[in-house]
Amino acid sequence: MGQVIAFTSGKGGTGKTTICAAVACCLAAEGCKVLCIDADVGLRNLDISLGMRELAPISFADVLADRYSLSEATPHPDIPNLWLLTAPVAEKPETIRFQDFGALLETVRAHFDFCLIDSAAGLRDGFHFASSYADRILVIATPDPASLRDAGETADQLSLMGKHDIKLIVNRITPAIFRALDWTVDDMMDEIGLPLFGIVPEDPNVVLAASANRPLILCTDRRASLGCLHIARRLRGEKVPLLRIR
Ligand SMILES: Nc1ncnc2c1ncn2[C@@H]1O[C@H](COP(=O)(O)OP(=O)(O)O)[C@@H](O)[C@H]1O
Ligand SMILES: [Mg+2]
Repeated sequence: MGQVIAFTSGKGGTGKTTICAAVACCLAAEGCKVLCIDADVGLRNLDISLGMRELAPISFADVLADRYSLSEATPHPDIPNLWLLTAPVAEKPETIRFQDFGALLETVRAHFDFCLIDSAAGLRDGFHFASSYADRILVIATPDPASLRDAGETADQLSLMGKHDIKLIVNRITPAIFRALDWTVDDMMDEIGLPLFGIVPEDPNVVLAASANRPLILCTDRRASLGCLHIARRLRGEKVPLLRIR
């Protein structure tokens, strides 16, 4: 059975889409069969981070409405083993039948090793439905205290929904911030009550890759790309030491 992993956050702009796309590419490059679902209805941009923006891919709402089948999900043009179902643009989040989304994920689990869902930020529509069917949830925050507190509050909401496998990823860490703070699993647990699953450095390649319509991992294997590779390997159950950011 495949794993369904939702990427979420307290507020927008923390790097959910960027990290979801890069981790998906890494998992596929390592031979796993991966489906990406953009569940950020109305604000979709996972196709951009995957380097698939010119492909007009079909949406998960198309599959829910039986206009297409799951096997017609858009394959990545350059990375084998990777498929995308984008978010519907015309539909409003409230028109999506959430139970049907859960049923779709059951089929997805049977056909893929991993399903990575890029979901909306905590306080927007779409947050609940993507996370409520996920096996594990990765909350993405930036290193500033406000973002970390939002991540903690998001995790509290998710716990109230009965979710337990919730971990933190801190994105956009600069060498100065890395030196100044002690990025250990224990510290994060004490600070915001969430185990630390990974850290991703600040990296101009993120913007350069998106501008070139290329997946980050095909542009570089260093910095943010390497942070995401480590996250992918941990999702596969490997023990990988925390990245050192210099
Ligand atoms: N590690 C990083 N280094 C540099 N820029 C980043 C990094 N992660 C994200 N960004 C930039 O931050 C912005 C928000 O990222 P995005 O992944 O769209 O966030 P979200 O999906 O949480 O709204 C984008 O412009 C993206 O290019
Ligand atoms: Mg996003």
